Amino acid sequence: MNSRLQYVELNDGRFIPGLGFGTYKPPEVPNSKTTEATKIAIEAGYRHIDCAYAYQVEEEVGLAVRSKIADGTVKREDIFCTSKLWCTFHRPELVQSSLERSLKKFHFDYVDLYLIHYPFSMKVNENGKTIYDHVDLCAVWEAMEKCKDAGLAKSIGVSNFNRRQLEMILNKPGLKYKPVCNQVECHVYHNQRKLLDFCKSKNIVLVAYGALGTQRDKQWVDQSSPVLLDDPVLGALAKKHKRSPALIALRYQLQRGVVVLAQSLKENEIKENIQVERRAVGMWVLYMFFLSYITKHLLSLHSFINILAIVD
Ligand SMILES: NC(=O)c1ccc[n+]([C@@H]2O[C@H](COP(=O)([O-])OP(=O)(O)OC[C@H]3O[C@@H](n4cnc5c(N)ncnc54)[C@H](OP(=O)(O)O)[C@@H]3O)[C@@H](O)[C@H]2O)c1
Repeated sequence: MNSRLQYVELNDGRFIPGLGFGTYKPPEVPNSKTTEATKIAIEAGYRHIDCAYAYQVEEEVGLAVRSKIADGTVKREDIFCTSKLWCTFHRPELVQSSLERSLKKFHFDYVDLYLIHYPFSMKVNENGKTIYDHVDLCAVWEAMEKCKDAGLAKSIGVSNFNRRQLEMILNKPGLKYKPVCNQVECHVYHNQRKLLDFCKSKNIVLVAYGALGTQRDKQWVDQSSPVLLDDPVLGALAKKHKRSPALIALRYQLQRGVVVLAQSLKENEIKENIQVERRAVGMWVLYMFFLSYITKHLLSLHSFINILAIVD
């Protein structure tokens, strides 16, 4: 475990790093960019990587992790890697083989976290068309529990579940493991306050995606909607705390007990976003300066106050 990172305890006793590196990208962007970006992220200090079968980059993420293991930067146990069960594999007999296929792509023996990606099921019909399917979510969950028992997923959870769907799992007769988390869209324009309170009351960690306002894919996002990182309140807070709006948006989640994902393929943004973890280092720097002030009287009150201003 990296002591510089914030970790959040899961209800199964394991720990998840508070900041995760998102690996969804539009299909037109070459997959090799994911390998490059994931390597940069690991070098920069990220230890939590969020992936999914549906992103079609499990091979590239696995390649990046293995290359950082090979050069001695990390060990496999330092990395917290998530994947997700796609909706066409909800039928209980397909769940474990779907995870095994993902593991083969990663070249991993296990994932740290396996999630049900969405609370609805799909299947491919006789004409090759993908249509909705009816699969009992509780049966999907039982198949997920078997993946944990088989050691293929260290922890299991859900994504995009509302309160009612979570309750369905929590109230399932014979429940063996509670979901450790619910990964949902969550940002300053949609802060999921009620769902967060519910999750906290059940000791389920809320993991936020879209925290930076999403990639604004034309397919899903109305291009005339406000750009989150241009928000004037975020801008004012960023100015006050001498941070970027992105760091304020990420810090907001960590400070309310939410694990947060941040995606970027740009080196400067990847390196900037990990600075959200800077608080521990900032406090250490503050203590050192304080000590120096007391013992040597070298630090003027004015510069001490300036340091206070940059530490959260
Ligand atoms: N469970 C689910 O159903 C689900 C759904 C969606 C996402 N996710 C996960 O959550 C991850 C994150 O969500 P997301 O991909 O929607 O996007 P996001 O993290 O909200 O935003 C990503 C965009 O913000 C911009 N950005 C990043 N760092 C920045 C910085 N420091 N300054 C300015 N702009 C910055 C980048 O755009 P530019 O590159 O253009 O600058 C980037 O494309 C995904 O990658 C995926 O792993 C899960």
